[in-house]
Amino acid sequence: MSILKIIEYGNPILREKSKEVTKISKKIKTLITDMLDTMYHANGVGLAAPQVGENLRIFVIDVSDPSGPINPLVFVNPKIIKKSGAISSYEGCLSFPKAYTTVRRYANVMVKALDINGRPFIKEAKDGELLARAIQHEFDHLDGNLFIDHCRNRFVADEVLKKYNLSPVEVDRLIDEPELEEAILLWEKEHPDEAQKLRDEIQELENNKE
Ligand code: NI
Repeated sequence: MSILKIIEYGNPILREKSKEVTKISKKIKTLITDMLDTMYHANGVGLAAPQVGENLRIFVIDVSDPSGPINPLVFVNPKIIKKSGAISSYEGCLSFPKAYTTVRRYANVMVKALDINGRPFIKEAKDGELLARAIQHEFDHLDGNLFIDHCRNRFVADEVLKKYNLSPVEVDRLIDEPELEEAILLWEKEHPDEAQKLRDEIQELENNKE
């Protein structure tokens, strides 16, 4: 068991496109178990290989209740084969210590990948559940994309990044998502009470930080 060093925003490794894994060797298995150890140690729900300095198409996720048994999910060479719906998601990243912001995500995703033994599986996550958002967040890391590239308001994101001494949003990396934004705005209009509740929850999380 090893805890690996997590690379932080600003390091060019996070912006590289990762390579497919061609063989699940002993070395790859060790990397995966070390990634899980590192993720649990950092109290994260997900970690992608580039975040520990390996530009390989691997990520790990555990969205189970921290007070219960662990439920590690390993994705090697993942492909998102279906995505639909839209949701506003409040996210952070282990490579951005403490910095959270609101981003656009699909609500439903289906992903195909290999497990730690090289066996193919399909995982579906729906209704904007944490797993759906985590899969998109971690998958992005493999293409050098970061959660802030999906931010709903780059000026708000910049303020947060500045507060934690992180460099500002890279404007040329921002991902234009007019359909997602439109769908989110429509949902917020149709569900004003739920949308307000979400905003209040985010505000409360903000207030509870340090
Ligand atoms: Ni991340």
